[in-house]
Amino acid sequence: MSGQLAGKVAIVTGGASGIGEACAETLAREGASVLVTDIDDGMGNAVAGRIAKAGGKAHYLYHDVRDEVSWPGVIGEAEKRFGRLDFMVANAGIGIASPLETMSLADWQRQQAINLDGVFLSIKYSIPAMRRAGGGSIVLMSSIAGLRGSPGLAAYSATKGGVRLLAKSAAVELAVDRIRCNSVHPGIIATPIWGKIPTGAEGNRRNAPIDPNELASAVVPLVRVGEAQDIANGVLFLCSEASNYMTGQELVIDGGITAGRRPFLRT
Ligand SMILES: NC(=O)c1ccc[n+]([C@@H]2O[C@H](COP(=O)([O-])OP(=O)(O)OC[C@H]3O[C@@H](n4cnc5c(N)ncnc54)[C@H](O)[C@@H]3O)[C@@H](O)[C@H]2O)c1
Repeated sequence: MSGQLAGKVAIVTGGASGIGEACAETLAREGASVLVTDIDDGMGNAVAGRIAKAGGKAHYLYHDVRDEVSWPGVIGEAEKRFGRLDFMVANAGIGIASPLETMSLADWQRQQAINLDGVFLSIKYSIPAMRRAGGGSIVLMSSIAGLRGSPGLAAYSATKGGVRLLAKSAAVELAVDRIRCNSVHPGIIATPIWGKIPTGAEGNRRNAPIDPNELASAVVPLVRVGEAQDIANGVLFLCSEASNYMTGQELVIDGGITAGRRPFLRT
C-alpha cells in the first residue's frame, strides 16, 4: 500500500477496540504493516480482517501486555512477518473507578500492572528491534487524567501520570538511538472503555455506566465527545516524518478541556 508510512511496521497494543483499533486502521491506511495485539481474540481478528479487506497489511496476535515472558516473541513476530519494527503504540489500558478509601490493593495493583508495567515492557522490548531498524517512534497512550487529578479515578490517574514521565525519560535516554517517544493525552473519547469502568472490587461498583456523550456535553469547550479517530490522527502524526524533531512531548487531544472551563457567558 502506498502512503506516508509505506514500508514501515507498527505494533498496536490493545488494538482490538476503541482508540487502538482506530490507530491500527489509520497506520495501515497510510501504508504501515500492523501487528495488532490484545486479549480479545474475536475483536482483534476482526480488526486485522477489516484492514486486510481494505487492502492493508495486518495480523492479530493474542498478548496480555503484563506477560513479560511473551514480549520477545511479540516483537519477533513483527520482525519475522513484516521484516522490522518502526512504531510501538502502547495503548492497552483499563480504568477502575473507586474512592481511595475503599480501593482494594488488588484493584490498585491490577491498574498499575496493565497501564504502567505493560507500557514499560512495551518500551523495553521495542528498543533492540528499533535499533536494528535504525530508529523508531514510540507513542504512549496517557490521558488528561495523567495531567491533573481525577477524583474517583486516582489509581488510573496515577498510572497515566507515570506514563507521562516515562515517555519523557525514554525520550532523552533513547534519543541517541534515534528512537523518539511521546505521550498522547485523550480527553473524553467515545469508546467501549466507559462501559467497562465499573470493574472495581464488589462494593465499589457503579449502578450505571458513565455516558461519555453526556459527560462531554457538560465539560468539553468544543461541546462534543471525542472520536477514536481524533486520537488516531495524533498518533499518525507522532509516527510520521512530520514529527521527526519532536520527542518527550505531550500531545493533548481533548476538545479544550484542559485549556480552561467552559465560559459562563457568551461575549
Ligand atoms: N476512551 C477515553 O475516553 C480515553 C481517555 C483517555 C485515555 N484513554 C486511554 O486510551 C487507551 C485505549 O482505551 P479505549 O478507550 O480505546 O478503551 P477500550 O476498552 O475500547 O480498548 C482497550 C483495549 O485494551 C485491551 N486490553 C485490556 N487489558 C489488556 C491487557 N492486559 N493486555 C492487552 N490488551 C488489553 C482491551 O481488550 C481493549 O481491546 C487506554 O490506555 C485508555 O486509558 C481512553
